[in-house]
Amino acid sequence: MRAQSQAPKVRAAEDGLALTPPMGWYPWNEFGQEPQNEKLIKETVDALISSGMKDAGYVYVGPDEGICFSRDADGKLTSNLARYPSGLRGLGDYIHQRGLKYALYTDAGARTCSKAMPGTEDHEFEDMAAFAAWRTDYLKVDWCWSAGLAHHSSPVRNVAHDQVDVTAAYAKLRDAQLAAGRPIVFSLCSWGVGEPWKWAASVGHLWRTTGDIAAPGKANWSTAMKNTAANEKLNAAAGPGHWNDPDLLINGMGGLSETQNRSFFSLWCMMAAPLMASNDLRRMTVSTIQTLTNREAIAINQDPLGIQGHIVRREGQAEIWAGKRLFDGSQAVLVFNSGTAPAEVQVTWPDIGGTESAALYVRDVWTHRTTGPHRGGLTVTVPASDATLLRISKSRAFPAPPVIVADSYWLSFRAPRPGPQRLKGAITVKSTGSNELPMWKVHSGLPAWLSVTVTKHGKSQTLANTVSTAGLVKGLYHAVVRADNIEPVSGLPMSALYYDVDLAVAGAE
Ligand code: GLA
Repeated sequence: MRAQSQAPKVRAAEDGLALTPPMGWYPWNEFGQEPQNEKLIKETVDALISSGMKDAGYVYVGPDEGICFSRDADGKLTSNLARYPSGLRGLGDYIHQRGLKYALYTDAGARTCSKAMPGTEDHEFEDMAAFAAWRTDYLKVDWCWSAGLAHHSSPVRNVAHDQVDVTAAYAKLRDAQLAAGRPIVFSLCSWGVGEPWKWAASVGHLWRTTGDIAAPGKANWSTAMKNTAANEKLNAAAGPGHWNDPDLLINGMGGLSETQNRSFFSLWCMMAAPLMASNDLRRMTVSTIQTLTNREAIAINQDPLGIQGHIVRREGQAEIWAGKRLFDGSQAVLVFNSGTAPAEVQVTWPDIGGTESAALYVRDVWTHRTTGPHRGGLTVTVPASDATLLRISKSRAFPAPPVIVADSYWLSFRAPRPGPQRLKGAITVKSTGSNELPMWKVHSGLPAWLSVTVTKHGKSQTLANTVSTAGLVKGLYHAVVRADNIEPVSGLPMSALYYDVDLAVAGAE
């Protein structure tokens, strides 16, 4: 008899969330706590859309430690209406209506890092119910002021103790999330404490591997390089639905040169790291927008195989990164020159696991030029602190994996009078990949008042929702619809698509 398997080893295998690295925006690196408020988040939502970032796949957006809520005398979390006048549910609705997903922030300890907000300790189940009620889709959970830290009287950390504390605290929050019933991407933020890459795939979807990449407002190249070095070693732990997170992007912040911006983005793409921008999206240079929305680089990051590349060879100050096979059989290769003089590097086909005699095409994802076929390898010249990011394939075609863009993730219906009525509303989703997707499959388990049918028009599909109010009494009804799909080139599952449907049935008066 086969052994009964226990909890899934990879949580995402059940909820289908974040099967490619999450993409979105959090304010921390640029703004710190000030001014995080509803106005900033709404202006950022507008900028995500108008800059083309939403279409490139940046979807999760919301405040970080943005003084969003406090705890009532009765222990319940309440929105800070002074900063977020629509309330946290209202802000979520605003985001969902525009085809984006809602990110919030909390802490596993008693307080958040600056102590400005309550943490979840001893309130795990009520708090996760509150995040579900606010319709959160992505939750970053920090590790400040946790019992694990408070118990250490000495600054010398006890790694074994940390690991037990961190594992238990985050596992309890996972259980609380599951009890609350809303599928939420769970981002663990213990900065590597407790070595989450060893156990957190069954708990959440991504985990910080390092300390903060920047103090608010201060992009710091040397910290970025430190985080890269620490994260690079952990490549074996990453895969679909379980990602190493070396922290938010620093692209577009002051203090980085154009080559550093390009190198940084290339490294995050090569490491299959979450692409959570953190700059001021309302004031971006053309070059920042072009870097953040380079779809060919994003295709490497969002590849459905979910492999984290790593350094295979060093030549002087140049690093050759490979080991990142892509869904169509091609490979991503990065040559990063961390030095102050130009570097000329040979990339050989044996470097990337190929044979000397192979004839391969090379696509440069920054110049958007394809050359080849090349035999044996090629010479790459990289200016100081710049990077060359390549895709290498037997075929001249470089198909793009799907990135999903939706017009909305929220449908709200109102039946104005009692009695049987039919109401209709649609969600349209478009894939920006090279190939058409098979039809989305809607999960069973919808309430009796809701049915969903799917139609396809090339790369777009419409999920048509029909609400029947027959037999319903006055009241508010809610459903979360899940639909699944597969990537047509690799046949691998894609991240599940979820959206909310509300129905208000009005009274007889
Ligand atoms: C920690 C996290 C940061 C940010 C701040 C907020 O330092 O690592 O990413 O969330 O807290 O205070």
